[in-house]
Amino acid sequence: MRLEDKVAVVTGGGSGIGRAICERFAAESACVTVAEIDSESGLETVSRIRRLGGKAEFVRTDIRDEESIQDSVVKTVSAFGKLNVLVNNAAAFVIRDVNASAEEWEAMLNTNIRGTAFCVKHALPEIRKAGGGAIVNIGSISSVLGQPSMVTYNATKGAILTMTKCLALDLGSDNIRVNCLCPGNIKTPALINHMKSLGKTYEEAVKQMAPLNFLGRIGTPEEVANCAAFLVSDDASFVTGAALFVDGGYSAQ
Ligand SMILES: NC(=O)c1ccc[n+]([C@@H]2O[C@H](COP(=O)([O-])OP(=O)(O)OC[C@H]3O[C@@H](n4cnc5c(N)ncnc54)[C@H](O)[C@@H]3O)[C@@H](O)[C@H]2O)c1
Repeated sequence: MRLEDKVAVVTGGGSGIGRAICERFAAESACVTVAEIDSESGLETVSRIRRLGGKAEFVRTDIRDEESIQDSVVKTVSAFGKLNVLVNNAAAFVIRDVNASAEEWEAMLNTNIRGTAFCVKHALPEIRKAGGGAIVNIGSISSVLGQPSMVTYNATKGAILTMTKCLALDLGSDNIRVNCLCPGNIKTPALINHMKSLGKTYEEAVKQMAPLNFLGRIGTPEEVANCAAFLVSDDASFVTGAALFVDGGYSAQ
């Protein structure tokens, strides 16, 4: 199995893309900590994995809080003996134009930028102890595109991509690879809620969004998870500082 020797922390593993990543990693024999702020959904991910014979633990984690992040690292090492993979997937979705309030900016910056950086900061000593490993930051097509009324979201997703490149440079000598996975439109609760907030049903939104990429459809969380599994596996041993777009070609036009 490709991820047999991997111990992973996946933030936001209770829903959507994060849950699919946890399940895919476990299916490839990784040990997985579901680091999620919502206990019910996080525990459900763990049950789904264990039902199929996989190894997973839930640690209630708020990535805005350094102590909470440290706790998830300590509990991972105590459960599984080490830590060598981190997936920074959790995000806030306060999607606003430039009229965003200070509170709205704070919500986005604290989770998406500071939270991502703090998770790396607190996972690093253990990943180094393990002799190296891999970090995947979940960016977006919004990391590189201008999109209408999405200033807060795209600014933070752009920062995650740039942060990825800096980390890849800083950590290469520690044998730690850092890459950014950039999904396009993927059917998850976050996408459905965003569409609702724009006054559209999911079906209406799909009709508009699907033709905007080369494959003419919306992606699935599992299609993103497949690429995350590749990036943390030894198949990607010479890949670092990269942005991998999982978007049906949306960003290529
Ligand atoms: N769905 C898409 O179309 C899409 C497209 C591009 C990028 N993404 C990115 O993929 C990632 C996952 O998005 P999703 O669509 O699966 O969203 P989702 O809302 O389904 O899942 C996000 C999870 O993160 C958790 N979370 C939120 N704040 C947290 C915190 N402070 N600490 C710990 N956990 C927290 C939530 O409880 C939730 O379980 C995000 O980084 C998002 O920006 C999604």
